[in-house]
Amino acid sequence: MKKQKHFRIRRALIGGAMSLLLAPLAAPSFAAEPIVLKFSHVVANDTPKGKGALKFKELAERYTNGAVKVEVYANSTLYKDKEELEALQLGAVHLLAPSLSKFGPLGVREFEVFDLPYIFDGSVALRKVTEGPVGAAFLARLEPKGIKGLAYWDNGFKIMSANAPLHAPADLVGKKLRIQSSKVLEEQFREVRALPQVMAFSESYQALQTGVVDGTENTPSNYYTQKMHEVQKHMTLTDHGYIGYAVIANKKFWDSLPAGVCGDLDKAMNEATGYTNRIAQEENDRALDAIRASGRTTIHAPTAVERKAFIKALLPVHKKMEARVGAETIRTIYEATGFDPAAF
Ligand code: LMR
Repeated sequence: MKKQKHFRIRRALIGGAMSLLLAPLAAPSFAAEPIVLKFSHVVANDTPKGKGALKFKELAERYTNGAVKVEVYANSTLYKDKEELEALQLGAVHLLAPSLSKFGPLGVREFEVFDLPYIFDGSVALRKVTEGPVGAAFLARLEPKGIKGLAYWDNGFKIMSANAPLHAPADLVGKKLRIQSSKVLEEQFREVRALPQVMAFSESYQALQTGVVDGTENTPSNYYTQKMHEVQKHMTLTDHGYIGYAVIANKKFWDSLPAGVCGDLDKAMNEATGYTNRIAQEENDRALDAIRASGRTTIHAPTAVERKAFIKALLPVHKKMEARVGAETIRTIYEATGFDPAAF
């Protein structure tokens, strides 16, 4: 296992160094060979992010008249969660769209503010952050890490699942739950005395199937396309948190692209972003319908009273995570969205 990882990182190093060396030479004015742009991600093609990546490929290749070729590697076929960020920094891949929950290990903790339970009351509130100055300032914080933030892409709001009904916070006590690598998500489940386990997305299905964990949280499109609903008897539509992505590039590579190509790619990225954010909700609605139709999982919509109990149980996480993500960062989000914790 260790050896495999060593080889992967070595491959990344060599590939990264090569692509950075070759990038300027690959400009269309010097060669007929297209510039190859590798876009790696961990979800299925048939998800908001998967479709967004394919849309970007289509548009980027069209707008550059074939001067750029985008290779999309879906479903962790190239790298898993943690490795993909290392590979991007090394230049072995050029584009990623990790979930905002996965930037903490990189040392950019502010992104974990997106994980605070119930901080966004729907996508209108969320857009005020991702399409405003706060979102832009977050992306700028990636630059010293050699990463260029290009866009925010939606997935959607999360639901929770287990093999037992989850109708109240007390139902989570003692349950081992797979989470993404975010300290805020860890605290979220510790707050209700569950046992959070950080795990790569690609390992989630098997962990649920074999009982290594009892449950998890994710969006309907992620559950459905990974077949996780087939190994979870109960789901609750808590909508307690958000999963979205920052589309990011290796900065050195991106900055070395010829100006014309860069303009075409920016245009392609803008349009792919609009497309992804338009289809995301629909993809999740469709996935939830398909999960329901499969008959494998009982889906529970919390009553107003149940929802209030979840909110009340999880809101203390905001205060507790001030030291981690910054009190000022949390305040900035409250201001941008109009969220008032005192209202609950
Ligand atoms: C997860 O790990 O559950 C998600 O971040 C996967 C993804 O990229 O949507």
